[in-house]
Amino acid sequence: MNEAYHIPVLLDEVIENLNIKPNGIYVDCTFGGGGHSRMILEKLGENGRLVAFDQDADARKNVPADDRVLFVPQNFRHLQRFLKLNGIEKVDGLLADLGVSSHQFDEGERGFSTRYDAPMDMRMDQRQTKTAYDVVSEYSEQQLHKLFEQYGEVTNAKTLARTIVEVRKTTSLKTINGFKAGVSGVVKGNPNKYFAQVFQALRIEVNDEMGALKELLVQLPVVLKPGARVAIITFHSIEDRLVKVYFRDNSFDLSEDNPFTMSEKEVTLKPVNKKPIVASQQELKRNPRSRSAKLRVAERV
Ligand SMILES: C[S@@+](CC[C@H](N)C(=O)[O-])C[C@H]1O[C@@H](n2cnc3c(N)ncnc32)[C@H](O)[C@@H]1O
Repeated sequence: MNEAYHIPVLLDEVIENLNIKPNGIYVDCTFGGGGHSRMILEKLGENGRLVAFDQDADARKNVPADDRVLFVPQNFRHLQRFLKLNGIEKVDGLLADLGVSSHQFDEGERGFSTRYDAPMDMRMDQRQTKTAYDVVSEYSEQQLHKLFEQYGEVTNAKTLARTIVEVRKTTSLKTINGFKAGVSGVVKGNPNKYFAQVFQALRIEVNDEMGALKELLVQLPVVLKPGARVAIITFHSIEDRLVKVYFRDNSFDLSEDNPFTMSEKEVTLKPVNKKPIVASQQELKRNPRSRSAKLRVAERV
């Protein structure tokens, strides 16, 4: 594990809930610094296997020299395809620890952090073409409004969207400082907090984080063996809601008010806990990043 790269959150809780079988095949969808993966490997025997996905090329340097590990430098939205390509049909458990790593924030030139001046980039996968600059320079006012409101909970999302569309006619929004200066007139409250929310929204959009999560969720019933567990850590209320609803209804369309439709559907996943697991006081003290982490676990029926 590389703690300078990222400190894993809810580590004991994830490992405990995955019920790891020594000879099983496990997937870590978000390898990062490899903190969770290392603990999974400790529980695996000689014949166990771990498939580790990460779409950020930087994560590869943390992959241990261990024959049981297969690193897949791809978006986890292609989970089933890359498992198949490697001769794997079904797995015994899966983890996704969503969002970005501390490493991605700390590398100023990647453009994730408001602390540095750098290009408005924010791509986790640098093979992708769409950057944060493309979003702020090409999206319509309505699209910007929606994403700042939904993904950033920015209080004056509409005003911010209107300002961006106005300012970009005359000013370059190519860099973080350029962007911050361009919208400085509409910042509300603490600027650090405000820009953190704005950047979170842009990051989620650039990396299509909600789209990737939905695609991952619908593949779970297909790739998990009966009895296999899935653990997902989210850091945003929209993500948590998607996971909660999918674990409960095995679909995104059903609501609690519609038990009738549920009874007609084959149940493939069952939530293990009603409430999400959150960080202990001890972990909160050690790692403030664990503050907004929510872990949900489900089992393949
Ligand atoms: C929160 S970090 C994971 C940290 C890891 N659990 C650890 O202990 O070090 C999230 C990682 O997942 C990767 N990631 C996020 N979304 C992804 C996706 N859709 N496909 C593949 N990798 C993704 C990011 O590049 C980042 O390295």
